[in-house]
Amino acid sequence: MIRAAITGVASYVPEKILTNFDLEKLVDTNDEWIVSRTGIRERHVAADGEASSDMSVQAVNKLLLETGTKAEEIDAIIVATVTPDMLFPSTAALIQHKIGATKAWGYDLSGACSGFLFALKSGGSLIQTGHKKVIVVGVDTMSSILDYTDRNTCILFGDGAGAVLLEPTEDENYGIIDDLLFIDGSGADALHMKAGGSRKPATHATIDAREHYIWQDGKSVFKRASTDMAEVSAAILKKNNFNSEDVAIFIPHQANKRIIDMAARKAGFRDEQVLINIDKYGNTTAATLPLGLDEVVKEKRIKDGDLVLLAAFGAGYTWGSILLRYGPGKKG
Ligand code: COA
Repeated sequence: MIRAAITGVASYVPEKILTNFDLEKLVDTNDEWIVSRTGIRERHVAADGEASSDMSVQAVNKLLLETGTKAEEIDAIIVATVTPDMLFPSTAALIQHKIGATKAWGYDLSGACSGFLFALKSGGSLIQTGHKKVIVVGVDTMSSILDYTDRNTCILFGDGAGAVLLEPTEDENYGIIDDLLFIDGSGADALHMKAGGSRKPATHATIDAREHYIWQDGKSVFKRASTDMAEVSAAILKKNNFNSEDVAIFIPHQANKRIIDMAARKAGFRDEQVLINIDKYGNTTAATLPLGLDEVVKEKRIKDGDLVLLAAFGAGYTWGSILLRYGPGKKG
């Protein structure tokens, strides 16, 4: 059986850092509240005019360099994002053009914080049906849809991009092993952007009402995120007859340190097995998982063939987990 192996990962965060102390000057909040309620200390924010495709190109060009891949060899580019440069054309098309991936096709996918999982599953399916090199990007410029007068949301998010290269392997010890993925649109009321889509196109009134920003009922999302991400993380291990000690690293979505701790405890992980970088980046939505994967690979916290568990929960609701063995294995 052909499996999709992750043969490289790279990421990019913008230079500018916004600390909790910077936010104290914008809204009625404080570092102590933000750290104790969320685990976040700072986040990166895009420069003026820096959009999702720009950050993605930085990550993808690093990926191509590090894996010795030519842009013309890429068959497809899938981009998970809720902050595309424009509603159309796709961010995938903009990246394709900027990197010169002359033979690629591709598309954007909207899965919010679970977007990278959904895109990884889609990319894996393309590999299993004959593609040889697929790039999967998770990127979000959350600062472009944050209301920096709303303390409920503006403290939570940051900007970033991450990308992986998927290639076929016939080595059954490598690649994407299994996934559990879900959507539940009954959660739409709890986390959304009210205007700017076909239901409520932009007008002076929508702008005056500040409806082009993220709106969140934090408590409802917190409740669902902390149960569903925990359950789906434990469930995928059980389904595949693994236990937590078999996993080298658990990379959960980074929305709130308290949600991460609950998921880790429920799935049975020790602290050393859990990637936590929410303190540096906040919630970067679709970029969170590839940023985390890049960090554990670059810091050599995992080695070729190690078992990795990814899990996420986000707007939709969307949630899920993917179990994989990192590295190339034997080429398919
Ligand atoms: N600074 C200081 N105080 C704040 C604050 C801030 N930035 N934001 C809210 N508060 C206040 C509230 O007004 C409230 O005050 P009150 O008791 O006087 O009304 C108090 O702190 C508690 O607010 P609450 O909303 O109950 O806090 P919480 O512990 O639920 O934490 C979130 C809020 C947003 C951090 C938390 O609900 C959360 O992480 N939700 C899920 C986030 C998530 O997963 N989102 C996206 C998925 S991708």
